[in-house]
Amino acid sequence: MNINVNSARLNHSEFETDVLAGLSRPQKTLSPRWLYDQAGSHLFELITTLPEYYVTRTEVKILAKVSSEFAAEIGPGATIVEYGAGAAIKVRFLLDALATPYEYIAIDISREHLGEAVKSIAADYPEITARPVAGDFLTRPPDLDLSPAGPKVGFFPGSTIGNLSDGEIRGFLTGVRGQLGADSYLVLGADLRKSADILIPAYDDAAGVTARFNKNILVRINRELDGTFNLDDFSHQAIWSEEKSRVEMHLAASGDQVFFVAGRQFFMNAGETIHTENSRKFGRQELHDLAGVSGWDMVRYATDDRGYFAVMLLKGR
Ligand SMILES: C[S@@+](CC[C@H](N)C(=O)[O-])C[C@H]1O[C@@H](n2cnc3c(N)ncnc32)[C@H](O)[C@@H]1O
Repeated sequence: MNINVNSARLNHSEFETDVLAGLSRPQKTLSPRWLYDQAGSHLFELITTLPEYYVTRTEVKILAKVSSEFAAEIGPGATIVEYGAGAAIKVRFLLDALATPYEYIAIDISREHLGEAVKSIAADYPEITARPVAGDFLTRPPDLDLSPAGPKVGFFPGSTIGNLSDGEIRGFLTGVRGQLGADSYLVLGADLRKSADILIPAYDDAAGVTARFNKNILVRINRELDGTFNLDDFSHQAIWSEEKSRVEMHLAASGDQVFFVAGRQFFMNAGETIHTENSRKFGRQELHDLAGVSGWDMVRYATDDRGYFAVMLLKGR
């Protein structure tokens, strides 16, 4: 089967501009969206299977429990739009529960990986249209050309929301509400606050897969932007910030560094870090408020027995 990935204006210079700007800040920063090239996407899939990474297993359990109830509320003939689809595994719970779903649109920045994921959905659900859209849902939301018929359902699992800043969350949720329209739905998965003893191993596993995932951004810069990072000079760090309620991923320089990216020279002192990702942990009220100010009402809120993770059904006002 040949799936054409509709590419929504994603170009190389955007990567270069963003990386050069991030490395020029006093706290060097790289946006987490660049972690997901093909190798990064595969490493993320591996992370989801690690014993320490409770996130995926817990969310899947909740989705298995609540999908029929959510589907009954949504009704037949739905179009599902997944933002950051990854391997498009969790959406199967919704597709199985919904009455005669009409279309599945998968948006992801990781083009090749997206093609594979949508191909497998198309093979397993021949009765629905499955459409990959390669693009950035945050900075340039792609135009989706949605069918006017049937309910529209956004799907944003994996606590990808926790990778965004407060402003980005509001902008994203408001944008999705605008894109999907009034009376649309959003199925949102968010990780909840818990002890650092559980959180840190989830982002710094014993097998070192998360470290490889984090360092892959340097591999990508070396390959795509003529970078000269020596990977052995950087170590993976996962740090819990109580004040910001988030796990931060950094790459710490083991000694003084000089490196080039796209012809520009950069310096780092020993111990200085490049901040690559935040994974914010939420409380229920906070999620309720973020949804509320962005045009959504929380109509269902479900957690697992341990209260580790929440899956919500939001309805557009
Ligand atoms: C944390 S993973 C979640 C994957 C999957 N939805 C799940 O729940 O397992 C985040 C996914 O979003 C994609 N992604 C991250 N930032 C993005 C952006 N700004 N635009 C489009 N896709 C993005 C990544 O490529 C990755 O597949």
